[in-house]
Amino acid sequence: MTSFPEPSLRAASPWWQPRAGGYLRIEGGRPLTGTYPISGAKNAVLPLMVAALVTPHLVTLHNVPASLDVAVLSNLLQRLGTGLSWRQGGVGLSLTLCADRIHEARIDTALVGRMRASVLLLGAIVARCGEVRLPLPGGDAIGLRGIDFHLAGLRAMGATVTLEAGIIHAVAPRGLRGAEIRLPQPSVGATENLLIAAVLASGTTTIANAAREPEIIDLAACLAAMGAVIIGAGTDVVTILGGRALGGAVHTVMPDRIETGTIACAAALTDGAILLRHGSSFETGADLLGAAAPILEAAGVALSPAEGGLMARRAPGGLTGVDIQTRPYPGFATDLQAPAMALLATAAGASAITETIFEQRFKHVDELRKMGAHIQVQGRTAFIRGVRRLSGAHVTATDVRAAAALVLAGLGAKGTTILDGLDHLDRGYDGMVEKLSACGASITRATP
Ligand code: UD1
Repeated sequence: MTSFPEPSLRAASPWWQPRAGGYLRIEGGRPLTGTYPISGAKNAVLPLMVAALVTPHLVTLHNVPASLDVAVLSNLLQRLGTGLSWRQGGVGLSLTLCADRIHEARIDTALVGRMRASVLLLGAIVARCGEVRLPLPGGDAIGLRGIDFHLAGLRAMGATVTLEAGIIHAVAPRGLRGAEIRLPQPSVGATENLLIAAVLASGTTTIANAAREPEIIDLAACLAAMGAVIIGAGTDVVTILGGRALGGAVHTVMPDRIETGTIACAAALTDGAILLRHGSSFETGADLLGAAAPILEAAGVALSPAEGGLMARRAPGGLTGVDIQTRPYPGFATDLQAPAMALLATAAGASAITETIFEQRFKHVDELRKMGAHIQVQGRTAFIRGVRRLSGAHVTATDVRAAAALVLAGLGAKGTTILDGLDHLDRGYDGMVEKLSACGASITRATP
């Protein structure tokens, strides 16, 4: 990640605490017990914030996580002319967005470069303003992460889209029109981008082979609250009756299923017991985890419904090796792949994890090896032979989910783990260090 003058993020997100350059010190081996409040979902809140651009009226989001990605997107939106006001909500933050006068003129290259989700601005702005110039988005270095589906979808809706010198230029002076779009593969971001654009397009849009992630249902629910008509969100065919006048909305961001699954692994890994408390009522049971729930249970993560959330602990039979293939929802989430690997590193027997979504998402393997894990990678599959215990080491996070996995590994390991690359952890998680400390972890953030 390029260095960036952090304090400037406070312009649009005054709650953001600049923390550049810190590292985590984890003393492993303590069982985690207590209640862990799950934040609003990172992968839901970003498209929801962009969705506020489709209406000139106020959109209020509750349960917004205080994460670096939210701070970056807030600043991008502010520079486009969106008004933002923040309140400390009951759970998470509450954010009111007002996009009554947006202009596409100043999309900040440095900010866009920090976050893949900034590509979501494309559909909203071209639909609203008739033109957009967006620098190619950044984000985790986990594979090609093309944006061709996004561009092809907007072209099908009548936009002229060109890519030159790292800038995407999309023009639709007479607005977008409804189209029949078939995604080559169910991309979450492309489904969201086209869904947002289609709400403002004239006529009906159909997105076939759409992604079915719960975050898409959450986005559609918020757009529907504004007055949009969307049929089939959460299935593989989404139909949008576009061009309706839209009003404001009040929406509570769904709980983060990736944080839920990750901390469930932490409970089992440390032989503790954690109540994963969900701050919103979208889905509070193991259903939220899709196919990951039965697989994690087979690996020894006992999950049971509890008042306000989900109880997670180690199963009486201990941790056991399992085979995992990442898949689009409802399959095993690629975002849980790295945390699951940290868990399986100390499970009895052998495991195999095949990553089918992103082609470079095994960068945490070398770091886990430094901690004593036995992992061999062949092509897209990592073969793991569980060891009794990992040992603390100096490791570096290379993406958001790898950061969480290394925190887990450190919590279970013998001795001290030093984790660098904290920007990655901060991008995706609101207060993970403080929440783990409250469950008994010895984990502190230090500045160099
Ligand atoms: C979203 C999530 C990310 C998660 C991923 C898969 C957000 C902010 N991020 O990312 O955490 O890991 O879904 O669940 O919600 N692809 C193309 N061309 C495109 C679009 C995608 O080839 O135009 C490919 C990608 O390279 C990847 C696959 O499709 O191999 C899935 O990507 P996609 O679902 O789009 O991921 P994101 O939306 O970027």
